[in-house]
Amino acid sequence: MSATDEILVHVNLGPRSYEIPIVSNKLSDCGRLLRRWWIERDGMSSMTCKQAPPQGSVWIKEAKPTPQPVALLVTDSNLENLHAASVRQSLIADGWRCETEVLPAGEKSKSLEIVTKVYDRLINMQADRRTVIVAVGGGVVGDAAGFIAATYTRGLPFVQIPTTLLSAVDSSVGGKTGVNHPLAKNMIGAFYQPIGVLIDTAALQTLPDREYRAGLAEVVKYGVILDAEFFRYLEHNIAAINARQPEAVRHIVAKSCRLKADVVERDEYEATGLRAVLNYGHTFGHAFEALCGYGQLLHGEAVAIGMVYASRLAERRGLIDGSITDRQISLLEALHLPIALPAEVKLSTDAVVERMRLDKKTVAGSLRFVLPTRIGEVKTFGDIPESEVRALLES
Ligand SMILES: NC(=O)c1ccc[n+]([C@@H]2O[C@H](COP(=O)([O-])OP(=O)(O)OC[C@H]3O[C@@H](n4cnc5c(N)ncnc54)[C@H](O)[C@@H]3O)[C@@H](O)[C@H]2O)c1
Ligand SMILES: [Zn+2]
Repeated sequence: MSATDEILVHVNLGPRSYEIPIVSNKLSDCGRLLRRWWIERDGMSSMTCKQAPPQGSVWIKEAKPTPQPVALLVTDSNLENLHAASVRQSLIADGWRCETEVLPAGEKSKSLEIVTKVYDRLINMQADRRTVIVAVGGGVVGDAAGFIAATYTRGLPFVQIPTTLLSAVDSSVGGKTGVNHPLAKNMIGAFYQPIGVLIDTAALQTLPDREYRAGLAEVVKYGVILDAEFFRYLEHNIAAINARQPEAVRHIVAKSCRLKADVVERDEYEATGLRAVLNYGHTFGHAFEALCGYGQLLHGEAVAIGMVYASRLAERRGLIDGSITDRQISLLEALHLPIALPAEVKLSTDAVVERMRLDKKTVAGSLRFVLPTRIGEVKTFGDIPESEVRALLES
């Protein structure tokens, strides 16, 4: 792949704007790019902020010589000797001082306990406000490292290098960072934008099949909520997507990032309700994920099932006819995603409704749902009678 194949998504958030280059096989050469981001945003702002950004590929823009940049690379135990090693080598080759913090792989690392250990590490390495936190990993690493970046000395420059499909199309875009509370997932966090997100789609080739498919659920979600043409693209390119054909992967990643960025740009802090459209399938999905015990269903799998429930609810409300749900089911099935809870899972309706009420996106205890009005458009409804939700869950 040549440099010209790179796709660049801009997230336009005024002074917090950043770029997302989507590239292939470039992690081993990312040091220069990260140095440029660091110079432009934080490290040497007084020297360089008046310069116009250079034009052309992000890869051939040159950074000015600077004092040695310092990074704490945060990754997990599965990636330490894989993609994180490439990033680390590239940083060192570019003259960075780079230390690495390896979190145990898995959701448990999104905890204040782990965050505190990384704060200790930052203190020991005498990190200052120019030290860059570089997250290499999935949503777990990105969310935890982002929270550390947001809070240590009230903010360190932060770079995301997502390595799961879910983190590439969802968690790395939009600035939500955070960790779990023992009683509630994602309950402690901050909105904190990175200075850049580098997506290398070649890194997604090593992802276990189930993790790849779970990420596809969020991709399908973008089509349903925002873009009928993209939904059609997915329907017509099943084989290429399932085979992780590089061009198809790059297209779905770039399109998803652009669609999410469009929403985030208009509602960065989830204040106007617009960002809530991203929650399609999640009110049901979060409840299923939690009640099955985190781990039995991956987040994306729970969202796939949740989208089918939300769409059925829209049918009951007369918002859509059955063909809209059928198209979603066919696409999810073709991508080998679940469309119903596993047969052995028996959840009581009371438990599901109760769990939905706990979701932090509920307002004053009332159940709110994002429902499709056609493929490519959703609306938020806060007035759905609980009896209707119960009837659906029992049907
Ligand atoms: N911040 C947000 O806006 C946002 C949005 C959605 C989800 N999330 C969060 O994201 C987290 C889930 O993220 P995830 O699905 O990426 O899970 P994850 O980070 O746990 O990664 C899944 C598994 O894949 C492994 N892995 C990662 N990249 C790999 C690669 N390229 N090759 C081989 N193995 C690889 C990881 O080590 C891990 O075992 C959840 O905590 C969720 O709350 C956040
Ligand atoms: Zn999600």
